[in-house]
Amino acid sequence: MCGIVGIVSNKSVSSSIINALKKLEYRGYDSAGISTLNNGFIDEKKCSGRVENLEKILFQNPSVGDLGIGHVRWATHGVPNQINAHPHSTDQVSVVHNGIIENSDKLKKEYEAKGYKFKSQTDTEVITIILTDFLKNENLVDSVYKTLNKLIGSFALGVIFKNYNDLVVGARRGSPLAVGYGHNENFIGSDSYALKTMTNKISYLDDGDFCLLSKEKVEFYNSDKKKINKEVFELSNEDNVVDKGDFKDFMSKEIDEQNLTTKKCLNEYLDKSRNEINIYNIPIDPNQIKKIRLIGCGTAYHSCLMAKYWIEEFTSIDVESDIASEFRYRNVKLNKDDLYIFVSQSGETADTYAALEKCKKNNVKTCGIVNVVESSIARLSDFVLPIHAGPEIGVASTKAFIGQMLVLLLLTLKISKDRKDIDPNVFKKLIDDIINLPDLIKETLSKQKEIQEIARDFINAKGTMYLGRGYSYPIAMEGALKLKELSYIHAEGYAAGEMKHGPLALIEDGMPIVVLAPKDRYFEKTISNMQEVIARGGKVLMITNDKSKTLSENIRFKFELPDFQSHISAFLLTIPIQFLAYHVALLKNCDIDKPRNLAKSVTVE
Ligand code: M6R
Repeated sequence: MCGIVGIVSNKSVSSSIINALKKLEYRGYDSAGISTLNNGFIDEKKCSGRVENLEKILFQNPSVGDLGIGHVRWATHGVPNQINAHPHSTDQVSVVHNGIIENSDKLKKEYEAKGYKFKSQTDTEVITIILTDFLKNENLVDSVYKTLNKLIGSFALGVIFKNYNDLVVGARRGSPLAVGYGHNENFIGSDSYALKTMTNKISYLDDGDFCLLSKEKVEFYNSDKKKINKEVFELSNEDNVVDKGDFKDFMSKEIDEQNLTTKKCLNEYLDKSRNEINIYNIPIDPNQIKKIRLIGCGTAYHSCLMAKYWIEEFTSIDVESDIASEFRYRNVKLNKDDLYIFVSQSGETADTYAALEKCKKNNVKTCGIVNVVESSIARLSDFVLPIHAGPEIGVASTKAFIGQMLVLLLLTLKISKDRKDIDPNVFKKLIDDIINLPDLIKETLSKQKEIQEIARDFINAKGTMYLGRGYSYPIAMEGALKLKELSYIHAEGYAAGEMKHGPLALIEDGMPIVVLAPKDRYFEKTISNMQEVIARGGKVLMITNDKSKTLSENIRFKFELPDFQSHISAFLLTIPIQFLAYHVALLKNCDIDKPRNLAKSVTVE
């Protein structure tokens, strides 16, 4: 889960590489590096830490050259230090890598026996050594081809060569790699976003492909070493807007724009004049669907969990939600009458992609719900529903979660209507509620200050719990995940009814507890669970649209949401739990957009 870039040009490339690396930092930020070809010599510079550290090095000692590669790292093999940072070079080649070489230990031994010495603890260095070795006796294409064939695992690679002053090589297996076309220059990058300021013309390597980039042209080869052509996509300009503006960080911007992203998404999918949902061409006739399986990781999994409740409520279809890293290895019985839905912001998450591949191999019908429409998951799915949230840069997923849930709710209602599972009046009422969502979200966003104040209760907490029932349970899970990843405080999301089966033992005097209690059919039961927590000393932050005063006595703080129908409670409950995680992290001085040990796009297992 790293970011790679490569450029061959008729002008100096180092500043463009640095700019692209800054865009790729969401993929990893524990070290950074660059190699350029300078007068026939490979000039490698790298460091631990962020791209800005690398920039400082280049300021003292610039990297010269018209071609080069760069890397931002999220460590898998070897601690994040200067030696393990990429590129990994010999005097002949320099390599950047995203992915994991699973047979690196075996390969290392094989090449050590041949007399090669390894400098780093990484799996990547074997690629450098193998290529160097093949180049002694083989031409370049054969050396690349034979090297790739020795590797087991996943990779996107960028390579430059001492003896080729107009050549960058890219290769892909498992990890994404885009190729960009410029005027007298060409590019590779882990995603099109990194290349967008340089070009809007993009092709994508498929698994097993490799490519040779020179200034004037790009040659593509498939896994059989056959030359192939690639489709060229033109990227829209709209998604270029990735500026924090006046916001302190991307996360606060992304939380704040959720009323607008919701509106945009609704504009794409709702035909308000006909009260119709514009989702057509679902790859199975909705009347034939026997079961829906929803698959995702992290926050995307929580949106799957949420959709499970909606699908159970509004359709007669059996439904299951799965964590992609489990689904991909389980002996799941795949069925042609089932619809498999893959949810992913980035569209590049390795486990979700592998789960999708498994379904594709078994010829079952797949649907991708993604934010990045050029992504691998979008391209592999039979049917794609973009969430139209715009680029999400903060590692903590916020507006994408709201977008995923919205598209999943719309898809549920569409299927339900097509199957005549839902009463037309109920459908109409729900659409009206959904149309109101952006305004309700806006109103909730305006209450940020209240959460900012209560956040102080959490900063010294040993741990906390988020409790909810029904529709609130997946949001409780999401709330706990957000707090964990941003503020490094241990948090658990629990079905409130589970407390007495064990977790209640954790409640101590003064422990902050978040209770999600919308006025729905579970309300009274949730309140009872909340009282059990209060009775044991829990300090409750209650998030609710209940306006009665009687409850308030024993509650540390009550955050009041606007009025809404229970089916859309998830969207409104999400806003305060995002604010809470954000403000606790801010008070603890944590890095908001780049929490420790994480990366935005998880392209390794
Ligand atoms: O790009 P994806 O939606 O597939 O990413 C899945 C998870 O890695 C992601 O949601 C992760 O849990 C976030 N950091 C949560 O905020």
